Amino acid sequence: MTNTNQSTEPLFQTFNSDNLVLENRTVMAPMTRGYSPDNIPDQNVADYYRRRAENGVGLIVTEGTGINHPASVSGASIPVFHGEKALEGWSNVVKQVHDAGGKIVPQLWHVGMTRSKGDLPNEEALPVGPSGLSLDGEPVTEPLTEQEISELVEAYAQGAADAKRLGFDGIEIHGAHGYLIDQFFWANTNRRTDRYGGDLVGRTQFAVEIVKACRREVGPDFPIIFRFSQWKMNDFKAKLAETPGELERFLQPLVEAGVDIFHCSTRRFWEAEFEGSDLNLAGWTKKLTGKPVISVGSVGLDGEFTNFSGANTTSLDGLVEKLDQEEFDLVAIGRSLLMDPEWVRKVREGQENDLLPFDKEALQKLY
Ligand SMILES: Cc1cc2nc3c(=O)[nH]c(=O)nc-3n(C[C@H](O)[C@H](O)[C@H](O)COP(=O)(O)O)c2cc1C
Repeated sequence: MTNTNQSTEPLFQTFNSDNLVLENRTVMAPMTRGYSPDNIPDQNVADYYRRRAENGVGLIVTEGTGINHPASVSGASIPVFHGEKALEGWSNVVKQVHDAGGKIVPQLWHVGMTRSKGDLPNEEALPVGPSGLSLDGEPVTEPLTEQEISELVEAYAQGAADAKRLGFDGIEIHGAHGYLIDQFFWANTNRRTDRYGGDLVGRTQFAVEIVKACRREVGPDFPIIFRFSQWKMNDFKAKLAETPGELERFLQPLVEAGVDIFHCSTRRFWEAEFEGSDLNLAGWTKKLTGKPVISVGSVGLDGEFTNFSGANTTSLDGLVEKLDQEEFDLVAIGRSLLMDPEWVRKVREGQENDLLPFDKEALQKLY
């Protein structure tokens, strides 16, 4: 029996959903690291995830990993999720995490128009997006054709099938932060007039097809987590939904397509999403869909994501209170876990004074 600190006890309750059971409520947030030479996750990467599993993280979401499309990632050290060697690497990651008693899902990713022309690993592959526009709305390439869209949908489905085959505990689809799927969601980057564009519901069509195709491959018992955000990498104030009603219209098609858990990406978990209620984005998503939700954003830190100069540790009381009130079900921890693989164990054992602050050094190696 593990020694659990009373004040953080809600974090260490079992999570039980229809197709996923976790030992506690902590999730490692997906974080791109760039330590996979030739796009292949090696033993270093497997050991990095294993250390988090050994120290009690309930669910690990891997760094974004590129689906089988030539322009899915930007860079030769970002892991991909296709090809024999990369999948062998991931198979080892799963084994290490499972041997240490952990659970893990890959985050399936396509960067879309955030890729620059000439980026590795496929210099000739042009960036793709719904309307060929950069996040700032500048024309860069031709809009995707319907044929190309269906190939992308199938590439996500292939990733889902491979995740199941390799023994992962589910998948997370990266639909956040202004990358490919979010470029379809966002009116600034999606000017299409066919069924993939138009109003907010039309703009969910690409994601809906992806979720359905993944579900087709993995069956009902394999968890599909969907990550989304209001904010974009180039615009922290952007909003897909201005009101709870709009959020409901956005989420409903994704629920019907088969999402099991929503991962609601915010930069500060304590901020109310809409006026007139204290609920954050995860809280609203849970209320509107009835689905389990993951909240995230500056857990345990006094400075938000993208301020890479560092942040100090802070009390977890506000977080634990919201979790205890069941505003959300799971809590993703990002930067706190980069330098401190023991973060979850320390919290569980009441050693909060020993938690390490986030320092930019954390980005320099795989702690
Ligand atoms: C180095 C780094 C890389 C990240 N890469 C990803 C990524 O690949 N996919 C993703 O959805 N979010 C990514 N994020 C965002 C985190 O998942 C998380 O939402 C964000 O850091 C806020 O959580 P935190 O305040 O606990 O760090 C990244 C964050 C950091 C710090």
